[in-house]
Order: sequence, then C-alpha cells, then structure tokens
Amino acid sequence: MTETWRMVARVGDVKPNDVIAVVVDGTEMVVGRDGDRYFATQRRCVHRGGDLAEGIVSRGHLICPQHAWRFSTETGCQAEASEFCLATYRVRVVGDRIEVDPSPQMGQPRSKS
Ligand code: FES
Repeated sequence: MTETWRMVARVGDVKPNDVIAVVVDGTEMVVGRDGDRYFATQRRCVHRGGDLAEGIVSRGHLICPQHAWRFSTETGCQAEASEFCLATYRVRVVGDRIEVDPSPQMGQPRSKS
C-alpha cells in the first residue's frame, strides 16, 4: 500500500493545546497539538457542524466551541458517548514539517476494561 503524506504546516505553526484549520486534497481538517503530540481530525463537529478549528485542546480532548462536546485526540470519539466519532488522520513530523495522511481513520471507541 502506498502512503501519501501531505505537508500541512510547520511545527511552529501549531501552538501547544491549539488547533489550526488545514485543507488536504480538498478535505477540511484541523491539526492540533496535545502536549507534544500532534493529531488531525475532520473540521466539522459530528453534532451540529461546529467549527472545530475554533475549539480548544485540553487534557487529551478537542472541545467543540458550540456545545462543548469533548472528542479524544487519540480516537476522535466523544468522551461521554463513544458512538459519536470524528474521522481522524495520521500525522507525522519530519524535521519541522507536519505531514498528514489524508486517508480517514474511523474512530475506535476505547475499551471499557
Ligand atoms: S456542534 Fe459540536 S458540540 Fe454541538
């Protein structure tokens, strides 16, 4: 399988606990920084379409600005009701380049165990 990585930003473009909007191959996404880890999700909230680029990152969650649903920055799934998941995208850092694989990964609810 061929991997397709796209540069979306430089490391300094994404501040800790922040998100930025990016467009990759015509798909709107957000790229965020959770501590030292970067993540990417779809831009529009699965609840009512809130703009997650206006959201905040806190303690492993991306919080929607509209109604404060919290989505795991690891799985993309809502913290309180894991059947609601954002599409996520793989992210890697190469030098100072943040790159995204535009193939969506569907959220995987965390194990309850
Ligand atoms: S639109 Fe995101 S929580 Fe309602």
